[in-house]
Amino acid sequence: KERVFSGMQPTGSLHLGNYLGAMVQWIQMQETHECIYCVVDLHAITVWQEPKELRHAIRQVTAAYIASGLDPKKSILFNQSQVSAHAELAWIFNCVARLGWLNRMTQFKEKAGKDRENASVGLYAYPNLMAADILAYRATHVPVGEDQKQHLELARDIAQKFNNDFREQIVAAGHEDGVFFPQPEPVITGPATRVMSLRDGTKKMSKSEPSDMSRINLMDDTDKIADKIKRAKTDMEPAPPTDIEALKARPEIDNLVGIYAALAGISKEEGLKALQDTASEGPSIFTGLKRVLTEVAVEKLGPIRAEIVRLMDDPAEIDRVLADGSARARAIAVPILADVKDIVGLIRS
Ligand code: TYM
Repeated sequence: KERVFSGMQPTGSLHLGNYLGAMVQWIQMQETHECIYCVVDLHAITVWQEPKELRHAIRQVTAAYIASGLDPKKSILFNQSQVSAHAELAWIFNCVARLGWLNRMTQFKEKAGKDRENASVGLYAYPNLMAADILAYRATHVPVGEDQKQHLELARDIAQKFNNDFREQIVAAGHEDGVFFPQPEPVITGPATRVMSLRDGTKKMSKSEPSDMSRINLMDDTDKIADKIKRAKTDMEPAPPTDIEALKARPEIDNLVGIYAALAGISKEEGLKALQDTASEGPSIFTGLKRVLTEVAVEKLGPIRAEIVRLMDDPAEIDRVLADGSARARAIAVPILADVKDIVGLIRS
């Protein structure tokens, strides 16, 4: 049976990369699949979070989920720390995953930076908790942006090693094929699986980039969105790219076309055509693209922002959604964790 799981960290406000790289796919999959969407608060505290701001961010990301179109009746929306199965399974996975596997994780190297001795142990073990998030539900499909690909490969390795290490017990428990955990499949689709910074086409759009001009936040108002797009970096070439291959060689333009296509719900080819068709508008060849991009960004993001603001007016209601979602998540994860404990040889009451 197919089951979808994915999550976002409540660190600061969400941006266009989160929305186009993940959320748009989440919303679509909600129509065809059983979906579980998590606010991964335990992942957030792998780096320091001011408690008051963390609490606010957990609610705000939940509000952003709902405002973007996730329906708490169709999908399970909850926060990770309310379902202790995640942390428990993560411990077991800490004992399955190998140091050598984690040492290869590029995101740890980026986030820990030069002062690695001073990074939290949680930041290092982060991918094991992520594997636990997914496998606590035996989820089969994980819609994410491209930057999560390596973490998902690790989750697949953990699932496989667990199945191998405990094969005999898994078969004895009635799984004749010896497969307890499925191999979760990454779902990385759409024209914007890797949204880049508006200031530097070689860096991904991210919450941790110091310059706010590098990203469009879901909480940005119309003027901010327009200003950021207007000042987005382009290049000095005299003509628009002739085809998709030529577009790829121009990272800033590629990024703007990809964002436009994703927001407008069209293919990248059609996005490129819009750039070519408007190139004579002037004064720059990109003025027209920036105009249509601003229009569609404001049209899509404006209502989401307004709805987040409205939902944040009633934090108690958001907390109720999370409590309800957590209870439904627990109902799935607790029996799976009980099976895992039996398979491993732990005693439970
Ligand atoms: P996070 O919180 O960094 O990002 C949430 C989602 O947004 C995607 N994303 C992007 N997509 C395209 N372009 C970008 N510039 C961009 N920036 C972010 C991410 O790929 C992600 O899908 N480790 C995860 C959270 C997590 C998780 C999980 C995901 C924890 N447990 C289990 C899936 C399944 C993370 O830090 O995402």
